[in-house]
Amino acid sequence: MKEIARSAKTVYITDENVFAAHQKQFRNGDAIVLKAGEQYKVQATVDSIIEQLIGMEADRKTVLVGVGGGVVTDLTGYVASIYMRGIAFGFIPTSLLAMVDASIGGKNGIDVGVYKNMVGVIRQPSFLLFDTSLLQTLPNEEWKNGFAEIIKHASIKDAAMFKQLEQNDVSIYQKKRKELGALIQRNALLKTKVVVNDEFEKGDRKLLNFGHTLGHALENQYDLSHGQAISIGMAYASSLSEKMNGFKNAHRLVGLLSQYGLPTSHQFDKDKVINVLKMDKKKTKNSIHFILLEKIGKAFIREVSIQQLYENL
Ligand SMILES: NC(=O)c1ccc[n+]([C@@H]2O[C@H](COP(=O)([O-])OP(=O)(O)OC[C@H]3O[C@@H](n4cnc5c(N)ncnc54)[C@H](O)[C@@H]3O)[C@@H](O)[C@H]2O)c1
Ligand SMILES: [Zn+2]
Repeated sequence: MKEIARSAKTVYITDENVFAAHQKQFRNGDAIVLKAGEQYKVQATVDSIIEQLIGMEADRKTVLVGVGGGVVTDLTGYVASIYMRGIAFGFIPTSLLAMVDASIGGKNGIDVGVYKNMVGVIRQPSFLLFDTSLLQTLPNEEWKNGFAEIIKHASIKDAAMFKQLEQNDVSIYQKKRKELGALIQRNALLKTKVVVNDEFEKGDRKLLNFGHTLGHALENQYDLSHGQAISIGMAYASSLSEKMNGFKNAHRLVGLLSQYGLPTSHQFDKDKVINVLKMDKKKTKNSIHFILLEKIGKAFIREVSIQQLYENL
């Protein structure tokens, strides 16, 4: 950061937990410290950040640096994209989930009530800085959430990584720094490759939504973390893959999610969930583009009617 900060005025955006755990790192710069949690990934927080930026006299040359989990990176990228019609930004992801997924790819947005990521942009950060030692202060529950996206990547694109995950668990990766670093890098590169080939989600990038259609419909309605919500979504999508397409390994995916401390089912109100799901951005008139598995490591898109989804919930 020293090098980047030498050439431009930087403003850090972080949340209270990350700030408390790494206060010293913020000594040399302006910081905007947000309340932590998905419920703050909303327009009111955007307004408050913008007011503080104006207070700091941030201008077109200012660089915003999001230091935090996916909530902070989503908010930072979004604010940077609209403040003065767009200023530069970069990320220092501090959660496992943000390192392997949320900080990469340029999708930056906010929620509107129960509707996840309803408003936002696709605009790439100028830089990403990874420092896995930041994870030393990450709570255990948050490690599990990160593994949900890692298991997603393995399921749709990387059968060898799936096998490797089956032979380990969260506590093993927490102890083995080298293996953890390699795993983070493998996931970051996997996502980067998908995004570089399809930035605006016309094709292959859609596969990254595996587990997210149902997951997003559950997340804010049932106060689940993002990792928990998509874990339930992936378990559901894998059983739908069995029913609709003869996929044979739903039990392995459900087993792996459980092995990493993630939930694979949830009691929910079908009608309420279908109503939110209908607003999903992957939707056409009466059907939705659903991501299913052909086998471990290979996903495909299939149009599934809302009716079919409802019957299978
Ligand atoms: N833009 C994308 O492409 C993309 C992809 C995946 C997920 N997301 C979004 O990311 C969000 C989830 O991200 P998340 O799981 O990182 O959530 P989060 O940002 O809420 O972070 C989880 C918790 O961990 C704390 N935390 C983070 N790093 C820490 C550290 N090093 N030490 C101590 N505490 C730390 C945070 O304060 C928070 O309480 C969701 O809003 C999801 O929609 C976006
Ligand atoms: Zn996700």
